[in-house]
Amino acid sequence: MKVGIVGVGMVGSAAAYALALRGGASEIVLVDQSEAFARAQAEDIAHAVPFAHPCRVSAGGYDALNGAALVILAAGVAQKPGEDRLSLLARNAEVFAKVIEGVRGAAPGAMLLVASNPVDVMTGVALRLSGLPVGRVIGSGTILDTARFRSLLADHMGIAAQSVHAYVLGEHGDSEVLAWASARAGSEPVARFAAQMGAAITGDVRARIDDGVRRAAYRIIEGKGATWYGIGAGLARIVQAVRDDQRAVLSVSTFTPEVEGVQDVALSLPRVVGREGVLSTLNPELAPDEAVALRRSAEMLMATAEALD
Ligand code: LAC
Repeated sequence: MKVGIVGVGMVGSAAAYALALRGGASEIVLVDQSEAFARAQAEDIAHAVPFAHPCRVSAGGYDALNGAALVILAAGVAQKPGEDRLSLLARNAEVFAKVIEGVRGAAPGAMLLVASNPVDVMTGVALRLSGLPVGRVIGSGTILDTARFRSLLADHMGIAAQSVHAYVLGEHGDSEVLAWASARAGSEPVARFAAQMGAAITGDVRARIDDGVRRAAYRIIEGKGATWYGIGAGLARIVQAVRDDQRAVLSVSTFTPEVEGVQDVALSLPRVVGREGVLSTLNPELAPDEAVALRRSAEMLMATAEALD
């Protein structure tokens, strides 16, 4: 499968690198406002390919996206220390107007995978500008937050993150909702499993894990200026689910007709992802406080999207 990536700064290039190492694409084409920079990124990543799986990595203008089945949109500005994701909206919506025109000109049928923040509202912008069917415009959403939630829960219980089934829902941002009520370790509710492991999930543990997820990006940005490895791997995960028609359940963002009484908003819920994009949505059981928090997250995202129009 040919995959394009527009915007090959830290996030876009990390996604390309993760995809090449994972063997998630037969061809990866990098596009950037600086073609020389994209070529350098492509040549560097191509030198990793012999250690991984066969994959052609190249760079070019929008026309090089011709024939791409999926294009990752990672163009735009990223958070600065202390800046929240929503404050990037006006600048990145302007960038998308040009980017999506270029992508649609070269690869009109390509699925769009949005990474640029604020990713939920940007997913709605990409849907509107592209005119694609809803399920073919996916935002990375809370796939990274879900990974953070699972890894912190796993560390606390002393088990593999792959054995933890827990989701972060709503905005990829400050209003996100950690769905504790439906969180499982194996087939057990995490509270019961953790207690059996002698690692009870107390109020303090819950608060520590919540902060560890919700404030992760701010902490990492303070320390190294940006995040890229986690999101790069998350994007590669989504591409693999599409390429292999895995019908994997992933917490990704897409335009949602109704969630907790809020209509027409892009946010993350557990979705079945396959070759045609988002195939269906799961509505996890929520504790009353989680349902209220999810509605608040959806209301905030809808208000932010409406303010852009
Ligand atoms: C983060 C960025 C991708 O959460 O929003 O690391």
